[in-house]
Amino acid sequence: MKCVTTIHELRSDLKPSRGKIIGFVPTMGYLHEGHLSLVERAKKMCDVVVMSIFVNPLQFGPTEDLEKYPRDLARDTALAEANGVDFLFTPSVEEMYPTASKTLVTVKDITDSLCGASRPGHFDGVATVVSKLFNIVQPDYAFFGMKDAQQVAVIQQMVSDLNMPVTIVPCEIVREADGLALSSRNVYLNEEQRRQALVLFRSLNTVKQAFDNGERRTAALKEAAVSAISKSPEARIDYVEIREYPSLAEIETIDGEALVALAVYFENTRLIDNIKLSVRGGNAHVSHHDESQNSPGHGDRSELELCGQYNN
Ligand code: PAF
Repeated sequence: MKCVTTIHELRSDLKPSRGKIIGFVPTMGYLHEGHLSLVERAKKMCDVVVMSIFVNPLQFGPTEDLEKYPRDLARDTALAEANGVDFLFTPSVEEMYPTASKTLVTVKDITDSLCGASRPGHFDGVATVVSKLFNIVQPDYAFFGMKDAQQVAVIQQMVSDLNMPVTIVPCEIVREADGLALSSRNVYLNEEQRRQALVLFRSLNTVKQAFDNGERRTAALKEAAVSAISKSPEARIDYVEIREYPSLAEIETIDGEALVALAVYFENTRLIDNIKLSVRGGNAHVSHHDESQNSPGHGDRSELELCGQYNN
């Protein structure tokens, strides 16, 4: 694996790979099995895999966790290498933003709700850095985890609107064996918060059960999630939303593809999670976020199996 810190060096290192299929896994580091599942997918589909690790200041608000965001480059480098990454790009902030940026990429409307509403400017930061990284790496495929389902929708919209020559590959959420979605921010949780954090997954399963029992009204499904989360004394709801996916338009009933998304604080730690529900031709369906693995009629599967990939 080649470790590269400058844009110039990465561009020249990738020259011999032009013409091959280049896969790109952008990350902010502190790698976990979720990131590594993106690498695994990229390796299956591409000849060359580039990973970036860059904690992007532009996507953090002034009171957010930019300074304390977990970082461990030595460990990340070893993990990337062991998992078959070919190029690891770890630019400095000065390398990515040498002067005060005067160009910002803004994706309208779908950034107004959910995380976009709670974190003003966040998706401008994401869209801008991802545009820059796409211009630097020029990948054929880029791999993103569906835990940030709104981020995937925003990037897909941006790629389509700006005719970027890259295919976005959404990859399913990876969970701990007990259901907690993997996140670099899980490290902030103390033992009790970690225990109570299972309420995110449990509330999504409560919604899923109600949906399986025929409930289609988003207000009633939202209420079921809120009441499940309220059972956890340390949980403070940021939002619980059910929106059409990927437009993120408001809906009163589910009659197509819908995203059940939530963000919950445990003290200062904000965790997000989601599931996709869909009604196709009158049949209910819960998505793994990975269309290639979807099949209708999961009614005989266990609750745990229904929402992603498990890290046992
Ligand atoms: O999902 C992330 O880790 C970040 O938002 C991304 C896509 C690497 C952009 O900084």
